[in-house]
Amino acid sequence: MSPKRQTVMMCAPDYFGVDYVINAWMDGNCGQVDKALAAQQWQAYKNIIEKFADVALIPPQPGLPDMVFTANAGLVLGEAVVVSRFVNEERQGEEPFFDAWFKDKGLKVASWPQEIPFEGAGDALWDRRLPVLWIGSGYRSDVNAPPALEKIFNREVIQMKLVDPRFYHLDTCLCPLAGGYMMYHPEAFARESLEALEARIPEDKRIIVSKEDAAAFSCNAVDLDGHVIMNGASGALQDRLRACGFTPITTPLSEFIKAGGAAKCLTLKLVEEEG
Ligand code: ARG
Repeated sequence: MSPKRQTVMMCAPDYFGVDYVINAWMDGNCGQVDKALAAQQWQAYKNIIEKFADVALIPPQPGLPDMVFTANAGLVLGEAVVVSRFVNEERQGEEPFFDAWFKDKGLKVASWPQEIPFEGAGDALWDRRLPVLWIGSGYRSDVNAPPALEKIFNREVIQMKLVDPRFYHLDTCLCPLAGGYMMYHPEAFARESLEALEARIPEDKRIIVSKEDAAAFSCNAVDLDGHVIMNGASGALQDRLRACGFTPITTPLSEFIKAGGAAKCLTLKLVEEEG
């Protein structure tokens, strides 16, 4: 049986910019986004995604410059979705738009405790082989998010404590890939979290990302049909991905990196099979 065709949620960068500072990348970048270049980069990236998946667009909203980062809209499994509760006030205005859009698409919005910050698929990543959800904590999603998600989705969750402010969302430093491969930047994690990862992912399935590649948002990748799409990756990382059977595709996303996001952050997979 061939897997169901993927649908990827995206949001056009009509109102995108760095208008405030809520992560280390945005610091010093207020007003520095080249909007025409951002639009061009986003379109080129969308064209790549459309080779492998359908794209479903949520209309952008004025005054919500980070809404382009749809990874943070919520977390989907089967027909169910948990809509994000942003820790920063600057992004909380996005929540009702995401909520209404998911309902309109026929997804069932799970109830979520208002007092627990959780930033969706920016911080919660389904493993592609194990029945496990990897969850980031330390910067955005609250330590109480994992048990709440475990209850809703009935899947084991593994909490990954983030320790470097440049890697503040889990998807900036970890990327589960098809076949049980895991691409990640070890220095972004607390010792005990790395040990938890190493206990689950055999050595031959680990794709270690260097400081330089991590700073180029290589971990912030989207895997579709054996392709790994990202802003950039060194020759060594691309070779390692090829050796594991993947085809790397790079596409420049410099304007979005000024806001602390890249390829993965700009997408949300809407087809996540229950299994
Ligand atoms: N400026 C956004 C923020 O700080 C960037 C979000 C990037 N998204 C992600 N999934 N890593 O919230």
